[in-house]
Amino acid sequence: MDCRQAGATLWKGPMFRSILIIGCGSIGERHLRCFQKTGRCDVAVCDSNAALLERIAEVYSVSSFTNLDAALQARSFDAFVICTPAHTHLAIARCGAQHGAALFIEKPLSVTPDEIEETRESISRGGRFTAVAYVYHLMPWIREAREFLHNSDLGAPLHATATSGQHFPTFRPGYREIYYKDHATGGGAIQDALTHQVNAMEWMLGPCTRVFCDASHQLLEGVTVEDTVNISARHGSVLASYAMNQFQAPNEATFQIHCGQGSVKIEVHARRWGVLRHGESEWSWHQTPPLERDDLFTAQANAFLDGMDGKPTPLCTFEEAVQTLKFNLAALRSISAGMPITLS
Ligand SMILES: NC(=O)c1ccc[n+]([C@@H]2O[C@H](COP(=O)([O-])OP(=O)(O)OC[C@H]3O[C@@H](n4cnc5c(N)ncnc54)[C@H](O)[C@@H]3O)[C@@H](O)[C@H]2O)c1
Repeated sequence: MDCRQAGATLWKGPMFRSILIIGCGSIGERHLRCFQKTGRCDVAVCDSNAALLERIAEVYSVSSFTNLDAALQARSFDAFVICTPAHTHLAIARCGAQHGAALFIEKPLSVTPDEIEETRESISRGGRFTAVAYVYHLMPWIREAREFLHNSDLGAPLHATATSGQHFPTFRPGYREIYYKDHATGGGAIQDALTHQVNAMEWMLGPCTRVFCDASHQLLEGVTVEDTVNISARHGSVLASYAMNQFQAPNEATFQIHCGQGSVKIEVHARRWGVLRHGESEWSWHQTPPLERDDLFTAQANAFLDGMDGKPTPLCTFEEAVQTLKFNLAALRSISAGMPITLS
């Protein structure tokens, strides 16, 4: 057995990776737990909140740092998992690329187009695997439906709808105190929640080319950002519509994609997708068995580690996330302009 030391970490072979989670709030803690579950990496954490960091370090027995400089002075890392609010993602990504680290960046990629080009160049110079954590890419019911659409006899998609919502205060009681309350930090329904459905639709149908958005703050207490969104869009020749709110009782997301010879329906909340051809009266469903909430994130962590090993993965690429960022920004611009926006 080779027991060379790499910094403070016991060396366990070339494929045993050293991962730094930056930002250990809600999703950062989940990534920490799920990367640990893979058994394929050593995980350290960095968060500017010292009290939070102390708890995390104790619960998960990990090395912890209150800032990135301290972490990088202590040792080197094979990958950064960036789980801070969205306006900080790209600066941290460039730091990781300069460090020679692979990058796993939380959604949305950013809140402006400003740093995209320099980050793209930095990633290209660094030459390490990079992906964005749009977790719908790991859902078997999305992946199978996408595969079916791309290879089926239904014909090309012509019309699609995405309807979704949940009671956000139930799932994120602290929403008033976090990044969600401000567009500048990645907040509001469009950048924070709808972005999952948009990215999934783009993955299945191709990039969105036109957005006409109406949105409003309807109900959530203590914030002014939009919690309700209606969008009429085009993904090339496919006409699409999106409807979401963040106060409804059901926690559901449903996609319907209609083609010349039949339709595909995906019920995210029911972990199933179905096909109904012209002439049929019942959906033929494909069901995934129940999963624990962490399972998709552990699968995502494994996919990221596979990507670092040079294997193919279904993860969202940097360029796909740039496209979804363009959608977010066009939707927000469309609200203030009261007009449709064509995406470049
Ligand atoms: N994929 C998903 O399902 C999912 C779910 C929730 C959040 N997210 C995304 O993950 C990101 C974080 O969301 P969250 O809900 O975990 O937020 P959060 O507010 O719970 O946690 C963010 C953490 O980052 C820390 N932080 C901020 N700036 C820092 C810096 N420069 N250096 C070190 N630490 C810093 C904060 O102290 C905080 O603990 C957002 O982009 C959000 O959209 C994704």
